[in-house]
Amino acid sequence: MTTNLFTPLELGPYTLRNRIVMAPLTRSRAADGNVPHELNALYYAQRASAGLIVSEATQVVPEGQGYVSTPGVHSDAQVAGWRKVTDAVHAAGGLIFLQLWHVGRISHVEFQPGGGAPVAPSAIAAKGQAYTSKGFEDLSTPRALSLDEIPGVVAGYRTGAKHAMDAGFDGVEIHGANGYLIEQFLKDKANHRDDAYGGTIENRMRLLLEVVDAIVAEVGADRVGLRISPENTANDSADSDPFALYMAVAKALSGKGLAYLHVVEGDMMAKKDAQPGGFDYAALKAAFGGPYMANLNFDKARAEAAIAAGRVDLVAFGKLFIANPDLVTRFLLDAPLAKPDSKTFYGGDRHGYTDYPVLDDLAA
Ligand SMILES: Cc1cc2nc3c(=O)[nH]c(=O)nc-3n(C[C@H](O)[C@H](O)[C@H](O)COP(=O)(O)O)c2cc1C
Repeated sequence: MTTNLFTPLELGPYTLRNRIVMAPLTRSRAADGNVPHELNALYYAQRASAGLIVSEATQVVPEGQGYVSTPGVHSDAQVAGWRKVTDAVHAAGGLIFLQLWHVGRISHVEFQPGGGAPVAPSAIAAKGQAYTSKGFEDLSTPRALSLDEIPGVVAGYRTGAKHAMDAGFDGVEIHGANGYLIEQFLKDKANHRDDAYGGTIENRMRLLLEVVDAIVAEVGADRVGLRISPENTANDSADSDPFALYMAVAKALSGKGLAYLHVVEGDMMAKKDAQPGGFDYAALKAAFGGPYMANLNFDKARAEAAIAAGRVDLVAFGKLFIANPDLVTRFLLDAPLAKPDSKTFYGGDRHGYTDYPVLDDLAA
């Protein structure tokens, strides 16, 4: 029998019902204090037939925020709010990991405690804008983290992972992708340090590996996933030799027994998929050696082909899950898919969030 999207998968201590993952999706609908609430619980529960849900990116410390109304996991109220979400997903038979986030330089002084500069590997502003209370404004110039501040950053991730487990999550995904803090350290466009955290690939990987080890010590390796995006240029991110960098990352992680490696394949900004003959993602999978999750512009056919070929183990779907809460059923039946409305992606109420219909509603 060939393996397809509906073949269960052993992942850490869990058996996933299918290989269809809901990708992490920021929706900027947390309540005051960046606290998750009932509406967020309903949204995730509607999508619980995914083999695994990865939550929207969630700041582990107040300085880790860069956008309006994104949830945190650093206050008691946030942990209690997330408990509503995990209870609702579990009641619906689903599994959910929390995505642990620190935006680093992709922030604005407005979001920073005391209005200070955001932190980053180096004091280099990213090109781009933040959506603030005054509308769009240029991203703030960060200050470089001092060497003695780095253990505190690692501890922030570790505490975030502990809080996630306290809130009932089944595991955590480290956000090492899309131009945020960990990727700022990894890729040399944002990292101009000349100490133990900059320069060589080994040095640029150091923060990531310290974060991985700290979180593994806290929650166990089989409950920890990592998201990376080797070729992505989102948030002014780039590296001079991404293949060498990410092969080193995959090899360094290979013995650790992580739950999965989640790879954004290609460049979100280029509006084109990973190209044949381009970055060798199969080599990355082989170097990692554990469960491999792919993402970016997959549809059912591409996902089935990649799984059947053994090139990937799981596929994460983003925009399709926004518009199709019952994406698993629609894939199973080859039913038509609804299109997401990008105007309601970030912020707002239930509209464009929990009011996308399922097939049964449409039939009625
Ligand atoms: C509205 C929106 C919010 C997103 N938020 C996150 C996020 O919080 N964390 C993350 O790693 N990626 C985030 N992404 C990227 C998605 O996880 C995914 O990589 C992207 O949508 C490409 O997959 P797709 O083609 O299946 O939609 C977001 C994308 C969109 C459209």
